[in-house]
Amino acid sequence: MLTLGIESSCDDTAAAVLLDTSTILSSVLTSQDKIHTRFGGVVPELASRCHLESIVPVVNEALVRANVTLRDIDLISVTQGPGLIGSLLVGFSYAKALSFVSNIPYVGVDHMAGHILSVFLEEDKPDFPFIALVVSGGTSSIYRADSFTQFTLLGRTRDDAAGEAFDKVAKLLGFSYPGGPAISGEAQQGNAKAIKFPRSWLEVDSLDFSFSGLKTSVLNHCNREKQKNIPLCIADICASFQEAAVEVLVEKTLLAASQQSVNRVVLGGGVSANPRLRELMKDRCKEERRELFVPRPAYCTDNGAMIAIAGVHSHRENSDCTYNLDVYTRSTL
Ligand code: KG4
Repeated sequence: MLTLGIESSCDDTAAAVLLDTSTILSSVLTSQDKIHTRFGGVVPELASRCHLESIVPVVNEALVRANVTLRDIDLISVTQGPGLIGSLLVGFSYAKALSFVSNIPYVGVDHMAGHILSVFLEEDKPDFPFIALVVSGGTSSIYRADSFTQFTLLGRTRDDAAGEAFDKVAKLLGFSYPGGPAISGEAQQGNAKAIKFPRSWLEVDSLDFSFSGLKTSVLNHCNREKQKNIPLCIADICASFQEAAVEVLVEKTLLAASQQSVNRVVLGGGVSANPRLRELMKDRCKEERRELFVPRPAYCTDNGAMIAIAGVHSHRENSDCTYNLDVYTRSTL
């Protein structure tokens, strides 16, 4: 079975061809980073326009690289939400139209399901149930996954997403968008214990996150140092901020695993490409004798293959193909 996966929820236009449930025949992506970088974040109107320009060449390139034509495709899987409405509409409308004219069924999938399941694109696949930490520019959530289509939301951010906090701190330190990779790169030269930024644990046993206080604390630190005419040690700020964010992400995920008596942990979403998050999660899982499954960095960030895999499983459960579906901005999971 060949599935064409299409993703356009934010600022990446991506398409992939998947053979059966985990063999990637092609995965193509165009990033809009260069366009949004001068504005310090994604500009929704520009993002939709860029998707319009990229969607046809990206999908065609995915088919060419997989050495197949549209006629060979059995299923079209596309991100239905959550995301930016204008961006989602480009990929979703294109997928629907492609499905209609070529008589290939299509399925709309939740972007979060894609992030949770992207680990199945790797050789080392987890059994169910598992706890998934999904951390990206738009979300920070912890799920319990009981099957390819059954997910329970255990905790989520009450304000900024983890990636958003990385991007905003990067912006105030003068790095361009997206700031996560810049912060983690700079942090390698810094001392994570240099500045004691707060960890937001919220209520006892809460699995929710809050990152806005941490971001404000970095801003206050910078302002205080500037007032005292002390030059900012950017590497130490990055390392200390990253440590505060990562520690909360790791400990809350492990708390979820313990509360749910689930021994397997999965990472997904752009922030899970962060080397310190991967390292600390690995160390802590080893200490607690839990199994950890992490996709390679290219499948942590948005991609078409994760949408294809989520679509295959969703279509197996419900193969209805109706053309009155619409996009949505908030996750249904
Ligand atoms: O999942 P993703 O590609 O897009 C969505 O938001 O859906 O995630 C992008 C986010 C951005 O906020 C980016 O700064 C962050 O992932 N990110 C990182 C790293 N690489 C990407 N954050 C921290 N460390 C990284 N190495």
